[in-house]
Amino acid sequence: MGKTVVVIGGQWGDEGKGKLVDFLAEQADVIARATGGANAGHTVVVGDTKFKFHLLPSGTIHPGKLNICGNGMVIHPPQIVKELEGLEEKGFKITPNELLISSSAHVITDAQIEIDKAKGKKIGTTGRGIGPCYMAKIERTGLRMGEFVRGSSPEAQKLRPFVADTYVPLNEALSAGKNVLIEGAQGTMLDIDHGTYPYVTSSNPTAGGACTGLGIGPTKIDSVIAITKAYTTRVGRGPFPTELGTDEQTMNESKDDELTDVDIKKANKGDEYCLGKVLRKRGAEYGTTTGRARRTGWFDGVIARYSTAINGLTSIAVTKLDCFSDMKRIKICTAYDIDGEITKDYPLSLERLEKAKPVYEEMDGWACDISDIGSFDELPKEAKAYASKIEELAGVPISVLSFGPERRKTLIMKEDELF
Ligand code: GDP
Ligand code: IMO
Ligand code: MG
Repeated sequence: MGKTVVVIGGQWGDEGKGKLVDFLAEQADVIARATGGANAGHTVVVGDTKFKFHLLPSGTIHPGKLNICGNGMVIHPPQIVKELEGLEEKGFKITPNELLISSSAHVITDAQIEIDKAKGKKIGTTGRGIGPCYMAKIERTGLRMGEFVRGSSPEAQKLRPFVADTYVPLNEALSAGKNVLIEGAQGTMLDIDHGTYPYVTSSNPTAGGACTGLGIGPTKIDSVIAITKAYTTRVGRGPFPTELGTDEQTMNESKDDELTDVDIKKANKGDEYCLGKVLRKRGAEYGTTTGRARRTGWFDGVIARYSTAINGLTSIAVTKLDCFSDMKRIKICTAYDIDGEITKDYPLSLERLEKAKPVYEEMDGWACDISDIGSFDELPKEAKAYASKIEELAGVPISVLSFGPERRKTLIMKEDELF
């Protein structure tokens, strides 16, 4: 009997979805992406090679699997052609046996990209034309892939063999008992309905988007796993209650700026900007799509609890536990203080969210390198306690723990959540 596993981002994106999808793809027959476009940047590290996926599912490099770009996606044809050519240069020639693109996915035009670049600054969009393309879709004036490939442009000709009514092979795979892995893009807090509106993307990266973005029913889903970083990051503008340092300090920092012993000392004395810098440098928190420095902050348990509720999570996969190796003390947000009222419920009003002061619990760090452990038992007791706290705040078990970008740096904690 096959299974359907949905993997989504539990925070503001960049949680490590690419790494986990590549890891889980080994056991999957079909890997499908449901939403978003080239605003996504999913990194997969295999040996010495780094793959950066923007539109193609992160399972595309696994031979013999069918990958699907779903109807909920927005696709700039030159970008997907570029990605296919990039893979071919690395020795992966992708054929329609391995990739199908939904005929009803929407096409991003060059003009939409220009509009996004001109108007997206207030939100800090990725400038990939996402908002304007979804606007055209909702306005019912958009161009869809099925129509696009009937044209005569070089991209239309190249992509024509890949375009199909993808709900057919997908539902056939489900009926035949195959394993289906659904790869989310962006994250829960960037959802157009449930995120920090208006500082969000223009699609539904939450679990429901997996159904509408692919044409499968909710009854077909067995587990919903949110990839959740052991701390928090956000790229672009918008509220971020547990942020360390300010948005401006982060923007002014250069990627080449080294992490010094002085920074680490200052961090351990409680300097917030330096604590944020330690996480940014240890976690290599620079955008896969735009190269922008990511804002960093402590783990936010209010958001974790919210994500469990609105996505109906069955478990979380916790990534980047290895990035705390320099820290003696770690804070974790357990509630918000809004105008003197303590609440564990995430507030939907932007005004209330902007006033939210995190209530922290402080925990001992482990202050050592854990990137070479072979089992959960080998983790220092402080790291185990931190993982348990995350689990308690999220209200669902941890199914996978990740402690490095490579495939082997992954521990399965709950087999029945996976294939
Ligand atoms: P995605 O958008 O959710 O796929 O995440 P990104 O690929 O944009 O960003 C995650 C980054 O963290 C990538 O550079 C990954 O290679 C890396 N990564 C993933 N998991 C881990 C982990 O457990 N530890 C460390 N140190 N890096 C990780
Ligand atoms: P992955 O899939 C992090 C953010 C942008 C901006 C907002 C709107 O790699 O996790 P958009 O271009 O979508 O209109 O921008 O959403 N954003 C992401 N942040 N990871 C992503 O994708 C993102 N996709 C969009 O930075 O704040
Ligand atoms: Mg990313």
